[in-house]
Amino acid sequence: MTVEHWSEGWERLMARYQPGRARAIERLIELVETRCAGPAPRILDVGGGTGTLCARLLERLPRAELTLLDLDPVMLTIAASSLPSSVEVVRADLRDPGWPERLPRTGYDAVLAVMALHYLPPGRLAELYAELAGLVRPGGLLATVDDMPDASAPGTPPVVPGDGEVSWAAWWEQVAEDPILGPAAVVAFKSR
Ligand SMILES: C[S@@+](CC[C@H](N)C(=O)[O-])C[C@H]1O[C@@H](n2cnc3c(N)ncnc32)[C@H](O)[C@@H]1O
Repeated sequence: MTVEHWSEGWERLMARYQPGRARAIERLIELVETRCAGPAPRILDVGGGTGTLCARLLERLPRAELTLLDLDPVMLTIAASSLPSSVEVVRADLRDPGWPERLPRTGYDAVLAVMALHYLPPGRLAELYAELAGLVRPGGLLATVDDMPDASAPGTPPVVPGDGEVSWAAWWEQVAEDPILGPAAVVAFKSR
């Protein structure tokens, strides 16, 4: 399977969980363009997954200096294979308060997170927001989009795959069977 197969499949999966995803990402990029004067803003994508946001940012701001951070080896493998080598891809765990030490730089023009912070418990999340803000230069931008449906809330409809679509679990099962991503998936499942 090609890296495009995995990144496009991930994108279809995410779009099911986040119906307004394309518009939300577009709005984030508009905010970056508005708040970050200059053609080469420094941007950190926290929990950047397969690199969807970084790829969109580069389409609009080709000189942007991008850092993608994630914990999951599968996500990181897809991101590192699909994004240009100029994008810094960093493995770090946001649950660990020492995570900023893994970054190549500070003073970001923008720190962004898409659907990545709902994994964290509320107490840790409050600390993390302060840590994220500390990485932004004065006057820069910290913006998150996270509208993951709460499956435990009464009345939340289940996210059901349509015809020809794969479920979340089935996508990960396919990843586990891939000769390149499979070994990374074993690590990922163990670390969940
Ligand atoms: C639902 S995905 C969203 C990925 C990407 N932002 C997107 O919109 O496609 C959540 C991401 O957060 C990452 N993540 C979850 N917990 C994390 C942690 N403790 N530290 C770093 N990344 C984490 C996952 O590995 C995953 O890539």
